[in-house]
Formats: sequence, structure tokens, C-alpha cells
Amino acid sequence: MAWLEVHDYSVKGWSEGADPSARARHYCSELERGAILFFPRPPFAFSEDHWKFLLSLKPSGSRLHKNVSYRPEADVLRGFDDHGSKALLHEIMRGYAADVRRFVCDFLAPYAGKFQMDYASFRPMEEEGRNLPLHKRNDLLHVDAFPSRPTRGARILRVFTNLNPTKARVWTVGERFPKLAEQFAERAGLERFTAQSRLVRGLRRGLGQLGMPVPDRAPYDRFMLHFHDWLKENAEFQNAAQGKERIEFPPAATWLVFTDGVPHAALSGQFAMEQTFILPLGALVAPEAAPIRVLERISGRTMS
Ligand SMILES: [Fe+2]
Repeated sequence: MAWLEVHDYSVKGWSEGADPSARARHYCSELERGAILFFPRPPFAFSEDHWKFLLSLKPSGSRLHKNVSYRPEADVLRGFDDHGSKALLHEIMRGYAADVRRFVCDFLAPYAGKFQMDYASFRPMEEEGRNLPLHKRNDLLHVDAFPSRPTRGARILRVFTNLNPTKARVWTVGERFPKLAEQFAERAGLERFTAQSRLVRGLRRGLGQLGMPVPDRAPYDRFMLHFHDWLKENAEFQNAAQGKERIEFPPAATWLVFTDGVPHAALSGQFAMEQTFILPLGALVAPEAAPIRVLERISGRTMS
């Protein structure tokens, strides 16, 4: 199960087949269990003029950083310094985030009103041959965890669009989280994170109650950050061909994936848009497939 092309949903909405709510639920379930849902074209409005403008932004210019981020809830744009076209880029990112949000609320109706909008990003860099520190490399298989935004078990759903007019964006993906964790979580030191949970968290809470600035990360968040780095460091895991699949997302392709549950690596490709959503466990159709539940089954401990 690498990817699944969606045929019954278009930019106009649900178009074929009966019972859109059952179809929406089916796609949520597939996604949560590790499918990558694929559309050959964006299933939401995307203006040709905006698209051309984005492609005109050259990453070599100092005004454009390696990654432009947009925070929909605060309406803040970061990573772009050209005052002449900053307003236009801001408007494009704001419109894009709103369009993807509408699309997700309709296509994945069980999630409507239950998710938190995380950042959107515009990625103008060529992924192949980037010179990045090991833990920041995108071309090594990993599952996502955000150092600055602990989720306490909520899931990370991302919607990507390949804006490149001629080149595919190439990923490899690995065995989904249940198999990945079964094979590697204990070797990565899962027990260390759960064993600390009561004592360390009690201490942290106590210090927090005394007004001291101590981050109160759940064992889940601490393990997932560690696991992200551990997987990138692990040559045996990175080199194992078993269960690895290569996917080429052609120009204009749009795909949805829970990146906390599908190990992925971006090997090549330039110019992509992406919007992230945080889905609380209560919004999920298949919460038993969530990484936190998988880790709790393996460890026998609560991790939130
Ligand atoms: Fe990632």
C-alpha cells in the first residue's frame, strides 16, 4: 500500500458514487492506516498566475529563504524579505491555506471543525544534493515530529502539491508505523521514555506549578523526537531495501499523508506547497492506528 489515486473527488467536490459521507470516512481510515492519497491535479482552486509567480521566485536570491512558512492562525509569513512582492506572496499563502482547509473539511468531512491548522510552507529548493546536517536531511527516511510543537499524541496530516512544471518530486517511503515500531521502537530505547514518565513528569509538573519554566512534554513527544533522529542516524534501517518503495509525484500532483505514521524521504524535486493539519485523537476514524496507541501497546504504558 504505497499510494491510492482518488477518482471520485474533484475540484468541484464529490462527483461520482453514492454516499459522500461514507466515502469521506473510508478515505480518512485509509490515510490513518498509512495510505498516501494521490490526485493528479490539485483538488482545490490554484490560480495559474499565482503558480507562475511562485515559480519565478529563485531560491538563489537572498530575499528568499530555503523555506517560506505561513502560520494561518496568526496570519504571519516568514522566510521572505522582498518588500516589493511580500504582500503578494502573503496573499497567495493566505488564500492557499484557506483553500486547502476548505478542501480537507469537505473531502475528509469527519475531520471538519476538529483539527488545528498548523503551518503552510512553500519549498523552492531542489531537494537533491542539499548540504544539510544529518538530523535535518530530508533524503533520509523518518517520521515527522516537531521540536517546537509537541502534539501529545495528536496526528500530523500534510497536504503537498508539486508545483514544478516539468520535474517529478521523488520520495521513498518505508513500512508503516505499526511495523516500523514493532521492529525498531524498543531498540531505539522506548522503555527509557516510558520509565521516566511518572517520576520526571511529576517533577516537571511540580516545578511548573511553582512557576518555573520547565517544558512539560509528554513521553510520546519526547520519544517521537528521539525516534526521528534515531532513524536518520541508523544506517542499517536507511540501507535496508525491504519494505521501501519509490514514488514519483508528477508535476501538479497533490498528495495527502500522515507523516507521523509513514516513514518518508524526499530524494529530489523543486518547488512544492504544503499545508499541515494537527488531528487530535478524538477526531480520528481509526485511533488504534495512531502512533501513540501503537507505542502504548508495545510498551504497556500510557504515553500522553
Ligand atoms: Fe518529514
